[in-house]
Amino acid sequence: MDQFTIFGFFIFILRSCSGIQHEEDYLKFPPGFSIGSASSAYQVEGAWNVSGKGPSVWDWFTHKKDSIVVGQATGDIACDSYHKYKEDIAMMKDIGFRHYRFSLSWTRILPTGLPDKISQEGLQYYKDLIDEVRRQGMEPFVTIYHWDHPEFMTRLGSWTNELMVQYYAEYARVVFRELGSRVKLWATVNEPEQNCRLGFGRDVHAPGINLPHFGEYLCLHNYLKAHARAYHIYDEEFRAEQGGQVGIVHLCEPFFPQPSDDLELKRIGFETGCAWGTYPIFSKEGNYPQVLRDRINENSKLEGLPFSRLPEFSPEWIERIRGSFDFLGINIYTAREVRALPREANGKWPNDFGVELIINETWPENNSWLRVVPQGMGEILRTIRDVYDNPPVYIMENGATSAKGFKDYNRIEYLYGYMKEMLLAINRDGCNVKGYTVWSFLDSFEWSDGYSDFFGLVEVNFSDPKRKRTPRLSTKWLKQIMKKGRLINIKDIGQLH
Ligand code: BGC
Repeated sequence: MDQFTIFGFFIFILRSCSGIQHEEDYLKFPPGFSIGSASSAYQVEGAWNVSGKGPSVWDWFTHKKDSIVVGQATGDIACDSYHKYKEDIAMMKDIGFRHYRFSLSWTRILPTGLPDKISQEGLQYYKDLIDEVRRQGMEPFVTIYHWDHPEFMTRLGSWTNELMVQYYAEYARVVFRELGSRVKLWATVNEPEQNCRLGFGRDVHAPGINLPHFGEYLCLHNYLKAHARAYHIYDEEFRAEQGGQVGIVHLCEPFFPQPSDDLELKRIGFETGCAWGTYPIFSKEGNYPQVLRDRINENSKLEGLPFSRLPEFSPEWIERIRGSFDFLGINIYTAREVRALPREANGKWPNDFGVELIINETWPENNSWLRVVPQGMGEILRTIRDVYDNPPVYIMENGATSAKGFKDYNRIEYLYGYMKEMLLAINRDGCNVKGYTVWSFLDSFEWSDGYSDFFGLVEVNFSDPKRKRTPRLSTKWLKQIMKKGRLINIKDIGQLH
């Protein structure tokens, strides 16, 4: 029996013993399962120069005269959550959420970016925020870094410079020391691969380094080291006293092979996608997946380079990164089909990976760039279960945009489909998923899209200086779900308004 068959047999026995037979039973949330919603500091806080906060790379990027952000929008005020966090948390409590995922602004805590000066005012803001989340009966799920590092580091090459590993580690140490008694769930960094692709391989996100097939590899390499440093700092200096958990959040979109029965291509799709950032941490052997190393190394050689564009980890770093987790956080929005591309005439692999990613035009469109592919949720969860030996997983972002206004039926439909697939993966297929987080709680600053995409369960009026919040229909639906402890189709709960 191969690994997968043994697992399937085990799940069959488990199911028979637990009495779960009907789809209805599958739609219950397991005991202790946590549902919440999320934000990130730059996207919601505003107060960009309040409390002695230093400038971040996103302050700089959005303030540039030639800013490419839609409408030249900035996060200077954003949702003004810096001042309105109590209102936000009260609304979350009303829905019945169990956790709130938010991130810390590095330069609000360390105005120079380095630990020579700690802002007590900045720290106090986060202490108050965390205490309020707890007071309202929720668990704070804190992301230490969500893309907004200190501006001056940009001039040193940002994540392409290995110095970032130390800078980030020092920042993380301050955070654990100062806030660790209040927090049990930490995510070191958010979606490093997406940040590296868009901000280092391209120029659409800060810092806009734009060095394709080079910048993103250096960037992710340093991110992974920085994550591991922070994990070990927690382990060695804080875990015994604080007893929390430390993980990382990766973008893990599912790739469906085309043709669908090409299992080798399926593996290559995973290994050049989600596994680029996850394999070094979650696999038994560590390091980048072999196929990724082979193909980039081969291409580099054919280009006449005396080294690979994919940096190499030393054996010590492979060991330090491998296993540096208490859980895996994943973000999932959509999916892609993956097709094999043959080598070019000169022997090179197109796109470095020898695959192309495409959208299946039959997948339904949502309100914006997202195609709705809920079956992808189950697909990626089962792949993670099989490849990484079923680690604890938190879904840290899942969500869709809607039009302005109250009636976000399309969001409800989207969330229903994805949550259903997640519950089947847990209750039927034995995936070890501990929590689910809707992105996002509020309409927010959407990076290069500015304020043109609305991911919020709660609408924010950005032309109102008070940034008035109006909960959308989906919050009422979620409230019912939280009450009943199981997924309910909007059709089954009559009219919500
Ligand atoms: C990011 C969020 C962003 C969301 C929607 C994710 O990749 O982590 O910050 O708002 O995508 O675009």
